[in-house]
Amino acid sequence: MNDFIFHNPDKVYFGKNQLCHLGEELLKFGKRVLLVYGGGSIKKYGLYDEIIKIAKDNDIELFELSGVEPNPRHTTANKGARICKEHNIDVILAAGGGSTIDCAKGVAAATLRDDCDVWPLVSGGVWVTEALPVIAILTNAATGSEMDGWSVISNMDTNEKIGMGGSALIPKVAFENPEYSYTLPRYQTACGAFDIFNHVIDNYYLAGDATFDLLLDMQEAVMRCVVKWTPVAMAEPENYEARANLMWASSMALNTILDGGTVHGCACHAMEHELSAYYDITHGHGLAIVTPRWLKYILSEETAPAIYRFGTKVFGIEEGLSPMEGANKAIDALYDFCENTLELKMHLSDLNIDETHFEAMANHACGGGPISGLKELFPADLVEIYKMCL
Ligand code: NZQ
Ligand code: ZN
Repeated sequence: MNDFIFHNPDKVYFGKNQLCHLGEELLKFGKRVLLVYGGGSIKKYGLYDEIIKIAKDNDIELFELSGVEPNPRHTTANKGARICKEHNIDVILAAGGGSTIDCAKGVAAATLRDDCDVWPLVSGGVWVTEALPVIAILTNAATGSEMDGWSVISNMDTNEKIGMGGSALIPKVAFENPEYSYTLPRYQTACGAFDIFNHVIDNYYLAGDATFDLLLDMQEAVMRCVVKWTPVAMAEPENYEARANLMWASSMALNTILDGGTVHGCACHAMEHELSAYYDITHGHGLAIVTPRWLKYILSEETAPAIYRFGTKVFGIEEGLSPMEGANKAIDALYDFCENTLELKMHLSDLNIDETHFEAMANHACGGGPISGLKELFPADLVEIYKMCL
């Protein structure tokens, strides 16, 4: 069992009646607030009006950055940073999914630069220790951005999508009202759910320390939660229990509580970010296509027991099989879940993606070294996995 530090300073208000605390939380940082949101979903289901009222009631001056794209662009974050500088903004309020929250974090970091440009921080791998405070209102159970110190920003000019990290990027406060996710389209619900699932299996589970039972059980519980509640949320979008389970699973999967000294791999995320960077696809969908193929590729006598365990604990595969047979069944169950329960198309060719950029994507994903994890992966391995996804 490795030593580790757990420290997550994000204060979470979870539930139906918590937005009444928004005014007091914003005022802790000041009265000049930049509201960041996406393409308008928050207007359709009334969250925008609620925020405007709270601002008015608390004598808060609101400025706006709207139109944040799914896979948020560095240019949008830079635009927000210029607004912050011009209007002396005290705190940024993000209302939306992971893209909106990530963009808000980009704005928060870029504002403290003279040139208001986030890209040198993102592309330079700078660990961000200073930024404007961010408060997040989550509307999509998916990325964990509401509770983590990461912001994934895309530069479509260079076909790069890169995660920028830093302690200063963890939201100071997050509001998680499962009701805000009732209006999510079926497809986004499925994609978000698979993102949660993959954060566990990709980041921690298989690279985990099998002697740390408590941690493994918690990781498996988060994945089981996704398997159980996603079909319910897809069938009954206004099922509070389903939305609440998924929303808290989103935060748990990436707020570092599941890290506990494990070794991070993130092979599927590295591969998916390249797909989004080149083809602007939905993150969770890309992950669903890549993950079963990655498992098949890394399957060996050595890795089979861990993959088999995952199958028994998460998909209820029977005990007592040979590790290899069990592991194959686990991978089949995962594929079936993605294709038939989440209803996601499972081939890159379905998304009009061919092998043109596989080599460049694989090289960029590896960043000059192998991707660590249960099995080290080099660019040639990634090209093979991409081909399996065709
Ligand atoms: O833009 P609006 O109009 O708000 O619509 C969004 C968008 O079209 C819509 N939506 C969100 N909440 C809704 C809703 N529609 C109706 N009702 C609601 N309640 O859903 C669409 C997708 O939103 P987006 O924010 O892009 O989705 P998601 O939360 O999955 O975020 C994806 C982004 O986060 C990054 C991904 O790479 C991607 O760029 N990630 C961020 C991470 C992090 N910060 O730690 C980790 C993740 O692994 C991931 O990489
Ligand atoms: Zn993700």
